[in-house]
Amino acid sequence: MEKFEINGGKKLSGKIEVSGAKNAVLPIMAASILTKGKSIIHNVPGLEDVFTMIKILKYLGAGVKFENKTLEIDPSGINKFVAPYEFVKTMRASISLLGPLIAKFKRAEFSLPGGCVIGSRPIDLHIKGLQKLGADIKINDGYIIANANDGLKGNYIFLGGNFGSSVLATCNVMCAAVLAEGETAIEFAASEPEVVDLADYLSGMGAKIYGTGSSFLRIEGVKKLDGIEWTIIPDRIETGTFVLAGAITGGEIVIEKCQPYHLGAFWEKISASGITYDVGKDYIRVNGRPSWKALDVVTLPYPGFPTDLQAQMMAFLSLADGVSIVTEKIFPERFIHVLELNRLGTNIIRDGATAIIRGVKNLHGAKVMASDLRASAALVIAGLAAEGKTEISRIYHLRRGYEDFEKKLKNIGVEIKTLEE
Ligand code: UD1
Repeated sequence: MEKFEINGGKKLSGKIEVSGAKNAVLPIMAASILTKGKSIIHNVPGLEDVFTMIKILKYLGAGVKFENKTLEIDPSGINKFVAPYEFVKTMRASISLLGPLIAKFKRAEFSLPGGCVIGSRPIDLHIKGLQKLGADIKINDGYIIANANDGLKGNYIFLGGNFGSSVLATCNVMCAAVLAEGETAIEFAASEPEVVDLADYLSGMGAKIYGTGSSFLRIEGVKKLDGIEWTIIPDRIETGTFVLAGAITGGEIVIEKCQPYHLGAFWEKISASGITYDVGKDYIRVNGRPSWKALDVVTLPYPGFPTDLQAQMMAFLSLADGVSIVTEKIFPERFIHVLELNRLGTNIIRDGATAIIRGVKNLHGAKVMASDLRASAALVIAGLAAEGKTEISRIYHLRRGYEDFEKKLKNIGVEIKTLEE
């Protein structure tokens, strides 16, 4: 197993590039099976989750080539409709194949995804939405067995849950509705930029989707879709992670090939902290400062503050002047990083779905363990500011969502080594 060794306490400077968005490419790869035609997808990050999705698509019978950040998917040979436990357990996002399989092949068997370290991850909204379109869905021996022998029919679907909208349920239902007979309305749809990228990709294939980017989608079913060429949007979570990496070291970095306007409430919080930045069409210059203010942060669906930047923001706030409060409204259990951050000298107390962060003057290097993808990034951010050596084990979590991470960080002056444990 690999681990990182970071020699922290240095100001960062230089340029860093953002890769294509993990959370956009995965549902788009799943949606590529809605046609018999080939899709050619550019700006695809070489991430473990992408490799897992390639494995599943190949297992189903699709032809897949991945070279120079371009994926070519030929779904014409698909002859299996089962997503086994081995795949689903390593990547929950494999659930985004459920809607496309039902829509295109009228059947799917899917291992039920369990919980994960960030807490309970139910799929009731996915099932409800697909049932509303006419799919017959049963749960048997840990598998979802879905059939739509009579075809799918458009319907009105209220897709909100106790925690608001669902990104992948919206993706699944949208993918199913584009080939359903008649019109579908999705109320309380997710409006994350990754959902918009999927809707735009589907529209490029010939789907008729109205209201893209809003919480109300109207979809007119079509008989068939065509394969197309597509370019994935930049990863906004990777972008935000780099902003915080620059800011916590008081450095000045330029983040390139990004889409600054996809970060919604994140910028409100960065501004309120006193960190200044300049934004261009596809770049951000972060001007770090020696000190910054404490904040109250509440995670919410887009354009609210993203839950996927909560852990990294907490690392940044650990050195702020004053007391910050971070409340997690999407995954209330997503605080496993708190104890590991405290090993680096942060002063964070968790109380239910809230964390209280008392700003400290310094962090110090220590041995810590990554527990999930974004928690790993939070530990790296804290490690950048900590005096001395920080060792982060189990960085395979990080490989799921950050492409060429060490290489990119080295370019902006981070002293980081990858070692075998
Ligand atoms: C996606 C992202 C993930 C991000 C999350 C929230 C991908 C591959 N992953 O995950 O990185 O953290 O959005 O922005 O895009 N819920 C239900 N019932 C359901 C589905 C979800 O109650 O059927 C709840 C969840 O438990 C959570 C909330 O809805 O509280 C939002 O989750 P959701 O948007 O579905 O997350 P994912 O799409 O799985």
